[in-house]
Amino acid sequence: MKLLLSLLTVTFFHAQPSLAQKSPLIAAETQFFIPIPQKTALTKINSTRASQAFRDLMLYMISTYIDPQIGSIRLVEASDANHYALAIVDEASVARIALKHFKEFSHCNTPAEAFKILKPLFTTSTYLASRKWHHVRFPIPDTLKEFERQYSFTQWQKEVITQSSIKGYKRIIFRNDRSFPNISVAQTTLPDSETARETEVIISREDLSGQSDFFAYNEVGELVSHSLFHNSKGTDIKAPVPYTCLTCHYRSAEGVFGP
Ligand code: HEC
Repeated sequence: MKLLLSLLTVTFFHAQPSLAQKSPLIAAETQFFIPIPQKTALTKINSTRASQAFRDLMLYMISTYIDPQIGSIRLVEASDANHYALAIVDEASVARIALKHFKEFSHCNTPAEAFKILKPLFTTSTYLASRKWHHVRFPIPDTLKEFERQYSFTQWQKEVITQSSIKGYKRIIFRNDRSFPNISVAQTTLPDSETARETEVIISREDLSGQSDFFAYNEVGELVSHSLFHNSKGTDIKAPVPYTCLTCHYRSAEGVFGP
């Protein structure tokens, strides 16, 4: 906390003199300051791409819990290479389900500490509730049946992958990339079955940030917080949604998570 306040005095309040007159503690009550890797310092280190990915991942995770109708993330880059950048978020814009976690950010001094708080949020079903912040006009329903009724995706352009390397089975991909929102649906089907073992969805956010969200329905068509993947030994492993999805579906050139 001490580090954060001194950082704020140097960067945030320096940049916005009108706020400098107010007590930093009053500001801290209604805003969350989250340390993230710095942009400028990144270019100087070897693992630039990995660090950039970490920064993009953290910003993506934070933005998931912010109602875009109310607020957005403000970024304050540190004035020197020894400090972290800060993502500043208004409490009023944070989804209730994530508020407790966001409160804990005030005690974080490094991006790694903040990430420790973000990750559990992203590997539990809490994420499923947050879908209402980014998919208001085109909702993600609780069941596959309703999803199918809403989007008629089986009529979209279709691509068949006979043996998906990540799923181990046949996969059918349906795409709707000509209209908004941009949606991709991938269904894994087992050899002796007519029904999909799993239906995965990538859908663009309505805030036009270019980011997308990731969802999965299980074999009985319920929205779930885990997905099955095939590992190199040929066995199925259960992994959390959307966290696992993000590890592969990252476009580094644009800094976005999507199909
Ligand atoms: C291990 C890497 C990996 C992970 C993890 C992963 N994907 Fe994918 N995804 C792929 C690959 C590779 C493809 C291309 C199709 C294939 O080979 O099966 C793909 C394709 C897709 C597509 C079709 C996109 C298109 O339009 O081409 C969707 C939808 C999708 N994945 C959703 C998800 C969701 C949802 C998750 C998380 C539950 C997820 N993926 C996790 C690697 C991954």
